[in-house]
Amino acid sequence: MNFIDLRFATDVREIDLDTVDLSAPAPDFEPNRQYYFMAKARSYVRELSEKAGRPLTFFTQTFGCQMNARDSEKLIGILENIGYVPGDSEAADFVIYNTCTVRENANNKVYGRLGYLNSLQKKNPFMMIGLCGCMMQEPSVVEKIKQSYRFVSLIFGTHNIYKFAELMTLALENTFGGEKGSTMTIDIWEDTDKIVEDLPVERKYSFKSGVNIMFGCNNFCSYCIVPYVRGRERSREPKEIIREIERLVADGVIEVMLLGQNVNSYGKNLPQPMSFAELLREVEKIDGLERIRFMTSHPKDLSDELIAVMKESKKICPHLHLPLQSGSSRILKNMNRRYDKEHYLKLVEKIRAAVPDIALTTDIIVGFPGETEEDFEETLDVVKKVEYDSAFTFIYSKRTGTPAAAMEDQVPEDVVKERFDRLLKEVQEIAAKKAEGLTGRTLPVLVEERNRQDETLVTGRLGNNSVVHLPGGKDLIGKIVNVRLKECRGFYYIGELA
Ligand code: 5AD
Ligand code: SF4
Repeated sequence: MNFIDLRFATDVREIDLDTVDLSAPAPDFEPNRQYYFMAKARSYVRELSEKAGRPLTFFTQTFGCQMNARDSEKLIGILENIGYVPGDSEAADFVIYNTCTVRENANNKVYGRLGYLNSLQKKNPFMMIGLCGCMMQEPSVVEKIKQSYRFVSLIFGTHNIYKFAELMTLALENTFGGEKGSTMTIDIWEDTDKIVEDLPVERKYSFKSGVNIMFGCNNFCSYCIVPYVRGRERSREPKEIIREIERLVADGVIEVMLLGQNVNSYGKNLPQPMSFAELLREVEKIDGLERIRFMTSHPKDLSDELIAVMKESKKICPHLHLPLQSGSSRILKNMNRRYDKEHYLKLVEKIRAAVPDIALTTDIIVGFPGETEEDFEETLDVVKKVEYDSAFTFIYSKRTGTPAAAMEDQVPEDVVKERFDRLLKEVQEIAAKKAEGLTGRTLPVLVEERNRQDETLVTGRLGNNSVVHLPGGKDLIGKIVNVRLKECRGFYYIGELA
């Protein structure tokens, strides 16, 4: 066999990892370096699996947002390349939690589950545990894990996820090479300006995919920890984004979700600046791509140009997620959101005028420091005026290190709870009423999966993101079909093929 020295290889995506020359030094440039370590980790996994007398399994658990979901697909792409096979529970040989830290309860969930993982590990000498994602960017978290959860093998953060293959190689060496449990592999970066392209990804769905268009956030909303754990805004080059989507389409994808913490400020810092609206125009041109979604829009940066592109487009789905956070201009100012109630309502008016059928969804925080009953009523007022198709409602969670955590007059828990319940009731009533409006219409549905409860049904989504169940078999999965919406049941529809 001819062994390949990856320092001199061009298209590494096509290389058979079993032919990589591991006696050559690791390349010092990406992505070749990571392919080298994939090959190396693969040789370790093969050895371990021979010892175990069975294939080694992995299990990933993702907390948090769509960004993390996409990151997990990257982790899985690498794990499969290095020879692990998918397991269906945490009783696996490698378990990794991709964590979220946006609210305190996200952190508590992880600590809660680590104890359980430890009990599993005691029964399985081949088991290794990894932690990554936003929570790991907080020094206090890493300190706590080092003190109290010594059985964790690998910890890394959000900025160096592209180095997963290399870190996994190190962790395998540290865990199984010497005395077991002697060394934790920890690599956390404070920030990065690096974007590595062309690493393997294993998609959850064959027909739809998330696509990162930018990383990080520069907004520093006063309650939010994201800018501290995801770093400064970096946009991918448009040609890389287009190339990725073209490859996805060639591989059967018909719907993409463009991902960024604040997609409306896409491209501002590129060497050749480009607006998000311009990027959408380019994505629209890709043959074979049928649906385009994006997430998340910040109201302060939502441009008229974007609204115009949404109006003209044949592919952009009629759905806009536009986080409100609060309806009170005073609270919005303290949140550092840089828009007020009037601006937000005007935006909604413009969007609805341009795209009349658009579904609007939002995020709302209840109980931000200093929120009074009057402030809260302003939020209710916007909710009633906009009539959201759905809304994610959150109880304010104090995140150490953010400006809001140091603000006085934090709102008492019982007051927050009472407001939260009132808001939820309002949001749900409006959503149910809105959904009713489409009953009887015939609309395209992208069928996504077999129904989990009823084998005779499949489940898909309308362009506006609503869920539809309809009779049909698995041959429909991944296809866009016209469906008559027979009945609305609160948050979903029952339909039939038209
Ligand atoms: N407390 C509660 N909700 C928060 N979010 C962000 N930070 C916090 C916090 N400290 C919510 C915002 C954001 C969503 C992803 O999470 O509504 O839009
Ligand atoms: Fe957090 Fe605000 Fe950035 Fe969204 S825009 S990630 S809420 S700081």
